[in-house]
Amino acid sequence: MVLHWLIALAVLAQIGFGWYLQQVPRRTPERTIYVNYHKSTGMLIGLLILLRIAWRLKHRPPALPASMPTWERRAARANHVLLYACMIIMPLAGYTASNFSKFGVKFFNAVLLPPWGVDDRSIYAFFNGLHIATSYVFVALITLHLLAAMKHAIFPHHRILRRMLPL
Ligand code: HEM
Ligand code: HEM
Repeated sequence: MVLHWLIALAVLAQIGFGWYLQQVPRRTPERTIYVNYHKSTGMLIGLLILLRIAWRLKHRPPALPASMPTWERRAARANHVLLYACMIIMPLAGYTASNFSKFGVKFFNAVLLPPWGVDDRSIYAFFNGLHIATSYVFVALITLHLLAAMKHAIFPHHRILRRMLPL
């Protein structure tokens, strides 16, 4: 529960940060600073996500209530699997792209992490494109997830939202 809510907040903020980056003019010193902050927070969130996945592999959540229609249980499970996939792809694609550019990552604008890849525009463009494309899929899945959570809050027959809260 703690990891779910921590990562939910962090990911939503990071998506907002990514959208904000689009407004920052390219090839300016400010953009370098903001992009490096985004890369640094993104890498920390990536580590938190790894911790969550390691925890999740050892701890099965309780089964969804049998009172839920089968299609809802299947849809929830599929949505969760895809959310985990996005949680892995987002930081990994961003991090990999950065390492195929001569800029690498300047961690919190303080420590330069030298890139381990070659400076190659097309490899960079592939992983950066994957990062951007996945962000749209991620936002769609999160929206669906939120709508489902709200539906369960309004019609709380299955107590799904309650069991995700330490009550
Ligand atoms: C901020 C609004 C959010 C709400 C109200 C919410 C609500 C919930 C609830 C109620 C569950 C529990 C379902 C169950 O009991 O089986 C859940 C599970 C889950 N949520 Fe969220 N969530 C939110 C944001 C997010 C975000 C942003 C992500 C993605 C980063 C996310 C990823 C997941 C995943 C992957 C699960 C499945 C956990 C598992 O079975 O391993 N949630 N969420
Ligand atoms: C959970 C982690 C992350 C999330 C949710 C996230 C989300 C986003 C979003 C929503 C955008 C804007 C996409 C658009 O232009 O429409 C973006 C852009 C960007 N992200 Fe991330 N990001 C994450 C991690 C990272 C990491 C770890 C790096 C690199 C180490 C990174 C590097 C970048 C860069 C360079 C851009 C600008 C791309 C461009 O405009 O060409 N991100 N990110």
